[in-house]
Amino acid sequence: YFDGHDEIWLFGYGSLIWKADFTYLERRPAYIQGWERRFWQGSHDHRGTPEAPGRVATLIRAKDSICHGMAYRITPEVLAPLDVREKNGYLREVTPLTFLDSQGHDAGQTQGLIYLATEDNPAFLGEAPLSEMAHQIALSHGPSGSNKEYLLNLASALRELGVEDMHIFALEKQLGRF
Ligand code: BEZ
Repeated sequence: YFDGHDEIWLFGYGSLIWKADFTYLERRPAYIQGWERRFWQGSHDHRGTPEAPGRVATLIRAKDSICHGMAYRITPEVLAPLDVREKNGYLREVTPLTFLDSQGHDAGQTQGLIYLATEDNPAFLGEAPLSEMAHQIALSHGPSGSNKEYLLNLASALRELGVEDMHIFALEKQLGRF
């Protein structure tokens, strides 16, 4: 995918939606098909600690679903520091992504790169009852800040994009109980 490309599209569905601390050429709202966002990845280096890992977003395959996010046009060098930042079990994968225009209509497709954490990485936590996940998020803190802030920032960034993400909004609602 990188061969002969001096620019690539990186699709962000988690912290990358609201925190792009790298240089990019352009950013556009986009979605990917066949995936759903879930707080199933453990974070012991950003939003938690090895003793008390937090929960952060990953993607699971879901045939008839789409996952909205933000796509960034970048030069490949930008990925080196990101690979370090995301060393906690994330792999890269190439997937088609669809851009959205300001009206929310499809506005073209391209290949893009995603980082995802699958169940075979040691930090993977997987599914738990919503209230349990919210409790864990409410309590966890790491070098990048509180886990709660991560979830609330993601929820408000999605709202700003006009995206309805039931899993995220339900978790956000549960967070209020703790
Ligand atoms: C994302 O926002 O897409 C993302 C951030 C960190 C790790 C993996 C994905």
